[in-house]
Amino acid sequence: MSSQKIGIVGSGLIGRAWAMLFAAAGYRVQLYDILESQLSMALQELDKDLHSLEEKGSLRGDLRASEQFALIEVTNRLEELTREAVHIQECVPEVLQLKKSLYSQLDELLEEQTVVASSTSTFMPSLYSEGFKRRQQMLVAHPLNPPYFIPLVEIVPAPWTSSESVERTHNLMLSLGQRPVTLKKEIQGFATNRIQYAILNEVWRLVGSGILSVADVDRVLSQGLGLRYALLGSLETAHLNAPGGVADYFQRFGGEISAVSATYGETPNTQEDRVTLEEIARQCEQLVPLENLEERRATRDEFLTQLAKLKKHFE
Ligand code: NAI
Repeated sequence: MSSQKIGIVGSGLIGRAWAMLFAAAGYRVQLYDILESQLSMALQELDKDLHSLEEKGSLRGDLRASEQFALIEVTNRLEELTREAVHIQECVPEVLQLKKSLYSQLDELLEEQTVVASSTSTFMPSLYSEGFKRRQQMLVAHPLNPPYFIPLVEIVPAPWTSSESVERTHNLMLSLGQRPVTLKKEIQGFATNRIQYAILNEVWRLVGSGILSVADVDRVLSQGLGLRYALLGSLETAHLNAPGGVADYFQRFGGEISAVSATYGETPNTQEDRVTLEEIARQCEQLVPLENLEERRATRDEFLTQLAKLKKHFE
């Protein structure tokens, strides 16, 4: 159990999720936001969420909900947030200029022992940390939503991030029970979105060309590939799928993989292809009407909680 201090900048959806993850592991958490109203709402939500997880038996860590809540406090002063923090998790909206101006303030305030990790889904760390004197202490630690139920965190260094900052963040994530992967160097989309976008592109093409409906194309993942991927990655899946392992798999199927891959065609333009977009939206809304999204998200979270238990059993 740790009494080290963690600062969180931005108390929205992701900032609150990090607060719960850190408190579950016994860290002292201080949340900062530019909006006072956000901070008081965040505290109310955290209190409610922690107790509801406890009631459902899904609370993480060894502390009770009230003990975890007592570890979380708020501040509206950035200089207070940075004081004696070992780690700051930045969770402000995905606007590059906003991130840059926040990092320039942090650059003046950061103490030597503090690493600042951005939750950004899209900005490579060099885009917002270039030129700062504390840039070796800045990197990305990208969670997947909802972070409380999905353990992956992508750690992405800028060219100037120190190896000590990377290693400390990796170990910190492990101490939360998260499962970090550290990229050797930054790349657009990191790893998750590069893979996710490859899937979205092909799904778009299959629906756009009328080969499969939205329900069926999603079934290919939810009733097929996804079931295996919840335990094994795509390479281990291949390794198990040929008598002689992965080398044998690519010997046997490599030709087919290349032949199919040559038929994919252009990368879809998901902003300009209005026809496909409207069709996808129409079918998705038939499956889950917009007013039911919240309910479906709750089902997703409940499913992920049960899946986490099952995964623990198998790992
Ligand atoms: P959000 O809009 O729910 O929360 C942002 C919070 O930041 C708000 O409370 C806002 O008042 C506060 N804020 C705005 N400017 C600020 C400033 N200068 N200083 C301090 N606080 C400030 O946003 P959300 O969804 O929590 O996203 C935060 C970050 O997490 C983004 O970088 C996003 O890309 C990333 N992320 C989001 C995921 C998602 O599914 N929502 C998943 C993974 C990463």
